[in-house]
Amino acid sequence: GRVAVIYGGHSAEREVSLKSGAAVLAALQRAGVDAIGYDPADGGLVGLEALAPDRVFIALHGRGGEDGTLQGALELLGIPYTGSGVLASALGMDKQRTKLVWQALRLPTPESVMLGPDADWQAVVERLGLPLIVKPVHEGSTLGISIVDSAEALAAAYREAARFDARVMAERFIQGEEYTVSLLGDEVLPAIRVEVPGGFYDYDAKYLSNDTRYHLPCGLPAAEEAMLAELSREAFLAIGAEGWGRVDVMRDGAGRFWLIEVNTSPGMTDHSLVPQSAAHAGIDFEALVLRILATTLA
Ligand code: DAL
Ligand code: MG
Repeated sequence: GRVAVIYGGHSAEREVSLKSGAAVLAALQRAGVDAIGYDPADGGLVGLEALAPDRVFIALHGRGGEDGTLQGALELLGIPYTGSGVLASALGMDKQRTKLVWQALRLPTPESVMLGPDADWQAVVERLGLPLIVKPVHEGSTLGISIVDSAEALAAAYREAARFDARVMAERFIQGEEYTVSLLGDEVLPAIRVEVPGGFYDYDAKYLSNDTRYHLPCGLPAAEEAMLAELSREAFLAIGAEGWGRVDVMRDGAGRFWLIEVNTSPGMTDHSLVPQSAAHAGIDFEALVLRILATTLA
């Protein structure tokens, strides 16, 4: 049957999604799948229904694609789709409520507080320490995120994040190493350590810079990498995620892991992490895309 690759969309991550979707579509077509691309920013849900696809490959990121709303619409239309269902997609898009689930299960995640325009900035700094990190709750690709070094800078960081989202959180900053773990079906793929020389793994470091270093193998001793893999799997399953995804994790100076977030529709661009991790496990991009597509039949 025909597969529609849905990409683009209206979110702040539109540009990333256009790249992810183009790569996925080309790979499916190379593999001989009857696949077509569809941008919901052009024809909405009505246009998708008119295409009458047998399955949908979701290559959208962020709101309106990764957050459960599209998943709910596809459920109602009776069209199978890749990745997580409604609940896990919605939870994964909400970094704060994801934490609440992890905390209830005693999985380690940095402490956070919600911010509003009248927050007591000094109290936030006293509780979380400095530096701290300010994030829009429902955003991806590091958009709207700041690392804050002083109470004075906190209000400006709040206003920047609030441009992207009505809900903004401050989170304790974990000084240390950044890891990411990809999941494909029941398999946990090799962890990657991401290193940004002299900087922060922000939008530029993710998609534009060629200085960002991806350590694969990640360099951890085998027993620690196994712990990281198991923690990531638990974190993924805790929110009910399925099919495929990516869990971002920090490791502090004492060697403790801290869960940061789950991405239920991770990037599939040529700089993206899941394809790199899969390649290291011997799964090339075409095979990866076919394996993700096969999860729609589960
Ligand atoms: N939100 C981006 C696409 C990612 O997690 O890869
Ligand atoms: Mg994310």
